[in-house]
Amino acid sequence: MGGTNPYIESAEFALPTKPYTITFKVPGQGDVPVSVEPEKIPYGRTGQPGSILDVALAHDIGLDHACGGVCACSTCHVIVREGLDACNEATEDEEDQLEQARGLTIHSRLGCQAVPDGSRDLVVEVPEWNVNLVREADH
Ligand code: FES
Repeated sequence: MGGTNPYIESAEFALPTKPYTITFKVPGQGDVPVSVEPEKIPYGRTGQPGSILDVALAHDIGLDHACGGVCACSTCHVIVREGLDACNEATEDEEDQLEQARGLTIHSRLGCQAVPDGSRDLVVEVPEWNVNLVREADH
């Protein structure tokens, strides 16, 4: 599933112009470094192009995304441990959804709405309860 939510303010973001790395901290898998290649964005059709969710799904990181990446749930909640300042600003709609997220921190973002600009590497923690153990089939 993918697409945009017509009922929310659209997020503004700048896409990276050079490769950078996101190290995902995944319960049960440890640290998984992923190289983000600007020319491959968007990787898929779920979440904002180049978002943390877009990158995660393309690299088999099991991040939940119950609403399909349209800012209508909080299951893609991640904690950006390093590099939060390289991400776009959260919209009010994202903040509203995040308030519903379990284990909210000041470093929390919705993976489908947070788009890093590539100016620095990121470390992103996937909360234990947001690990999607179901592998989606390739379409
Ligand atoms: S997948 Fe639902 S808000 Fe990100």
